[in-house]
Amino acid sequence: MLKHNMPKHVAIVMDGNGRWAKKRNLPRFEGHRRGVEVLKNIVQASANLKVKILTLFAFSQENWSRPKDEVDSLLVLFRKLVRQESKNLCKNNVKLNFIGDVTRFSSSLQIEIENSVKMTSENDAMLLNVAVNYSGKWDILQSVREIAAKVAKSELEPSAITTGDITANCALSGLPEPDLLIRTGGEQRLSNFLLWQIAYTELYFSNIFWPDFTASDLEKAIDFYQTRERRFGKTSEQLKRNLSITGPLALGMEA
Ligand code: FPP
Repeated sequence: MLKHNMPKHVAIVMDGNGRWAKKRNLPRFEGHRRGVEVLKNIVQASANLKVKILTLFAFSQENWSRPKDEVDSLLVLFRKLVRQESKNLCKNNVKLNFIGDVTRFSSSLQIEIENSVKMTSENDAMLLNVAVNYSGKWDILQSVREIAAKVAKSELEPSAITTGDITANCALSGLPEPDLLIRTGGEQRLSNFLLWQIAYTELYFSNIFWPDFTASDLEKAIDFYQTRERRFGKTSEQLKRNLSITGPLALGMEA
């Protein structure tokens, strides 16, 4: 792994908990429980590797349609994680943020979420975004609604709307877009995770089930990332000649 070409922002779809458990004749819950332990290890490993932003898909809007006992057990794990991990995050100087529609959670859980965000708000070694009750289409939709409200109040002309306006009203606004997206569990799809924000993200698919994913697997994903030539629509020759790589796309910004 090269120290100088680290991804600043890594996003992960943590998939395969259920199949990991099934393979061992364990209830799906055991896969999720083990998944939480791995999540903690990978947060620590990412901080050690000096990744600046880590964005994890913990609970999708579509996950509500799983059997009630599985949803309940995921919520129990989520509450426990929020309650117990803030101290650890502070020790590692990690700032916690949630993306997604948290208003769907009970008011007591919303308060715990708020407290954990407050508790870690001064930390600055790494930003950890946890996507809960999140979906990429919802994210774009709520951004478009904000913009439409401005148009309705005649504060904005439709023809003046830019892609930057959509970005600014989506989750993760103000942050560099993910450089690398990892999906574990063998499936090669995005499952409605960050759609708008990953236009130029490198995608890495691993067959390893999330509960078996280790820090060394994370390093392998970063090794893969470091072999990629990121052209942002330009040609390889342009990059080699080092021509205008300082354009807006190279910086992950938009017009
Ligand atoms: C995918 O496994 C896992 C998820 C539903 C999200 C990731 C959840 C955790 C790591 C547990 C922590 C949860 C929270 C909310 C903090 P799957 O059940 O889809 O696995 P399968 O595809 O093998 O069935």
